[in-house]
Amino acid sequence: MITLALSKGRIFEETMPLLRAAGIEVLEDPEKSRKLILTTNQPNVRVLVVRASDVPTYVQYGGADLGITGKDTLIEHGMDWSGTAGGSGLYQPLDLQIAKCRISVAVRADFDYASAVKQGSRLKVATKYVAIAREFFAAKGVHVDLIKLYGSMELAPLVGLSDAIVDLVSTGNTLKANHLIEVEHIMDISSRLVVNQAALKLKQAPIRKIIDAFASAIAP
Ligand code: PRP
Repeated sequence: MITLALSKGRIFEETMPLLRAAGIEVLEDPEKSRKLILTTNQPNVRVLVVRASDVPTYVQYGGADLGITGKDTLIEHGMDWSGTAGGSGLYQPLDLQIAKCRISVAVRADFDYASAVKQGSRLKVATKYVAIAREFFAAKGVHVDLIKLYGSMELAPLVGLSDAIVDLVSTGNTLKANHLIEVEHIMDISSRLVVNQAALKLKQAPIRKIIDAFASAIAP
């Protein structure tokens, strides 16, 4: 049995064409069903529906053989910025070029970010991405107090919880709707295929087949 961990939403939708290229058709819709293990047209392939931030954990500990998750999630899980899995038992063979977005610093339009950074003030930064934010501001020599949030980061500067946020930006509509502006682009994000290294050894042929099919289906 080959088990693939996926999260619902954009990653799930954008993974379907890749799976189809590998001859795999998921037979249930996770938006309609409450089932967490989905069957496919291949009796030996199944899909787990997990939280995006849990994908690396499932793959690392062998609950799933493969998983697809964002570079942001992998860095927060301990992968270094260059993409090395960092001895976690996770092999990262492919950038799938799906669910593309960026991770940025944003502030209220009336906040003078440039001066705050120049003057060496302590910046209050709210984010779900504490590892990325910590490393980014440390490299710039900016002192930050990090406030960990789990969602709706855009609210934090509006109610005085923080001066800035570090968050994913895709269309920019959420920032605009909340009168925030992007002041720094930290990195581009896309989703990656991760593979459990032990599973790759034990089930080499079927896993290689999926990796190869994904590789040839990646948008140029
Ligand atoms: C992400 C991100 C922003 C929004 C950006 O949230 O945290 O809020 O998308 O997209 P946009 O630039 O196209 O407006 P998501 O919907 O994934 O929810 P969550 O982070 O709160 O879980």
